[in-house]
Amino acid sequence: MTTETQLKEIVKQKYSEIALQDKETNQSSCCGAGGCSTEVYNIMSDDYTNLKGYNSDADLGLGCGLPTQFAKIRPGDTVIDLGSGAGNDCFIAVAETGPTGKVIGIDFTPAMIDKARTNAEKRGLNNVEFRQGDIEHMPVTANTADVVVSNCVLNLVPNKDGVFKDIFRVLKAGGHFSISDVVLVGNLPDALRKDAEMYAGCVSGAIQKEVYLELIQQNGFEHITVQKEKAISIPDDILKNYLNEQELADFKQGNTGIFSITVFAQKPSCCAPGSGCC
Ligand SMILES: C[S@@+](CC[C@H](N)C(=O)[O-])C[C@H]1O[C@@H](n2cnc3c(N)ncnc32)[C@H](O)[C@@H]1O
Repeated sequence: MTTETQLKEIVKQKYSEIALQDKETNQSSCCGAGGCSTEVYNIMSDDYTNLKGYNSDADLGLGCGLPTQFAKIRPGDTVIDLGSGAGNDCFIAVAETGPTGKVIGIDFTPAMIDKARTNAEKRGLNNVEFRQGDIEHMPVTANTADVVVSNCVLNLVPNKDGVFKDIFRVLKAGGHFSISDVVLVGNLPDALRKDAEMYAGCVSGAIQKEVYLELIQQNGFEHITVQKEKAISIPDDILKNYLNEQELADFKQGNTGIFSITVFAQKPSCCAPGSGCC
């Protein structure tokens, strides 16, 4: 059985490799899904190119939504991006916070942090900062952020409950998040569920949508809303690496759905007395 630590090492190693590739190479090997095709890239990630602040060097095609589009970021806000990669969402977010705001990207893969810092330097941005760390235990003091965003990352974390707890800690009272992530409805076939590449490829680490939303609620957030949902279909040429013909037919005819959702939730503006959140 693979432990949480081993899973994190697999993820770090995969994203170190990706950080050292250019976008074109990533498009043909993206998301670690066993040499996934360009189609998977197209299906998982959205088009960023028209967004203010877009930086093509930071766009490695690794997202599964456009969280900043839904995050209600205001000028002057402090924004934290969980699993910031090469900084793609951070550069969009800082275009919205303006010079009076601040964006902190957090990622545990050193090569991603290096790439993101280089991208920020090239743009001469001094209010975007990248910190190396695990999003279960962020290197950020409590009550720092007005907004938290994240794009296709929580599925990669074995203990999602730990991440939601830490988001609650770092958000200011009344602060909110918009997170794009992969969730499931129904069960994946064993061959997909147990594969390390599928885990690093943002598929098999995903949990049931219902459980995901319950976790958010159990951690004290309110106004939980799914802002966007889209079905993800893994192309047959990928599935054939894992499933025989019969298993493939069963999977396609079955009820299992893989979805990218963007979910919003808010930390209450005043919490229980003594909770330290107000
Ligand atoms: C699929 S990529 C998405 C990158 C970025 N959000 C984007 O859309 O381009 C996942 C990123 O999350 C990071 N990551 C995964 N698990 C993490 C964890 N527990 N703590 C911090 N970063 C993590 C990886 O290093 C990788 O850079």
